[in-house]
This record gives sequence, C-alpha cells and structure tokens, in this order.
Amino acid sequence: MGATVTGIDAVDKNIKIASVHAASDPSTASIEYCCTTAEDLVKENKQFDAVISLEVIEHVADPLGFCESLSALTVPNGATVISTISRSMRAYATAIVAAEYILNWLPKGTHHWSKLITPEELVLILERASISVQEMAGFVYNPLRGEWSLSDDISVNYIAYGIKKVETPSVEPQSQV
Ligand SMILES: C[S@@+](CC[C@H](N)C(=O)[O-])C[C@H]1O[C@@H](n2cnc3c(N)ncnc32)[C@H](O)[C@@H]1O
Repeated sequence: MGATVTGIDAVDKNIKIASVHAASDPSTASIEYCCTTAEDLVKENKQFDAVISLEVIEHVADPLGFCESLSALTVPNGATVISTISRSMRAYATAIVAAEYILNWLPKGTHHWSKLITPEELVLILERASISVQEMAGFVYNPLRGEWSLSDDISVNYIAYGIKKVETPSVEPQSQV
C-alpha cells in the first residue's frame, strides 16, 4: 500500500527468517527488519504513524509497560494495533490444547494461561497507556476450508485498533484575587 515498513523482533533468528520470507515477495521486499525491542526503539526516540504488534503482548512480563512503549512509539493521533489471544475457556481449548497439544501448530508451552489478556482488560491497559480503542474484531478459523476470517467473535483470537491520544497540557487553576 506504499507504506515504509520497519519490522522488529527481539530474537535475531526470527528477523533472519522474516527477512528471507519478505524478500520472496516484491510487495514485502522493501521492509526493513531490525533485531531490537519496542523498549529500545523508545530509547532511540523513534515514532511511527502506525505501530502494529501481532501476537506479542501475551509473551511479555509487563503488558502495561509494553503498551506504554507502543504508545510512545506512535505519533499523536496515530494508530496502534494489537492482536492477541483472550483468556477464555474456548481460547484454552483451541489456542492451547488443540494448537499446541493436538495439531502441533505451535511448540508445547508457547502460551501460558495466566498471561492471556481478555479484550476488556486490553481496553483498560491501552487506556492507561493513552491509547483509545476504536474497534475490535476476532479471527476465526474454518477447519473445513482451512481459512481464517474476521469475525465479531472476540473470545479466542482477536485484534484491537486504537488511536494514540493527543496530550493536552494541564490547566493551572487561576489564582484568586
Ligand atoms: C508469538 S511471536 C509473534 C511473532 C510475529 N509478530 C508474528 O505475528 O508472527 C512473539 C514474538 O515477540 C517477540 N517479542 C517479545 N517481546 C518483545 C519486545 N518487547 N519487543 C519486540 N519483540 C518482542 C519475541 O521475540 C517473539 O518472536
């Protein structure tokens, strides 16, 4: 779509695999990949029109701190997008038991129940990080077609889109004469 895209991951091996994958398609070949963290980019004072964090927040130790970093990386009125897995019984059955232990889509132990975040919790965390959630959607897998599609069902895999709030300077109370 014409955007200048920077892709990051904390693990060098993942960046190398992503670079090889992107290079095979002309529409992604111009992506610049860096092995770094969101937190380190904040220290470098980087900012982007849109910050997209897919399937990361459920792996971090401090979700609020991570969202504050995403917020710091987003320009005022810019877009922050986060996808993750909810903490629901259906998510436990499908995203953990089925995906990790039955279908072997992911290594066993990839996801920890206690680290999963519900859509309601994510809205509150993002609000505290100065990001106002505008829209959410679910990802639903159709095993007969072997396809994923967007859905209103946000009880398992879901994605949230928010806008970084513009800081308004606090108004000092007028001193009374
Ligand atoms: C489940 S993988 C998702 C990878 C990729 N975003 C995707 O959707 O395929 C989670 C990744 O988050 C990375 N990660 C964890 N904390 C991070 C941070 N603070 N900054 C950047 N990457 C981080 C890990 O190295 C890991 O590769």
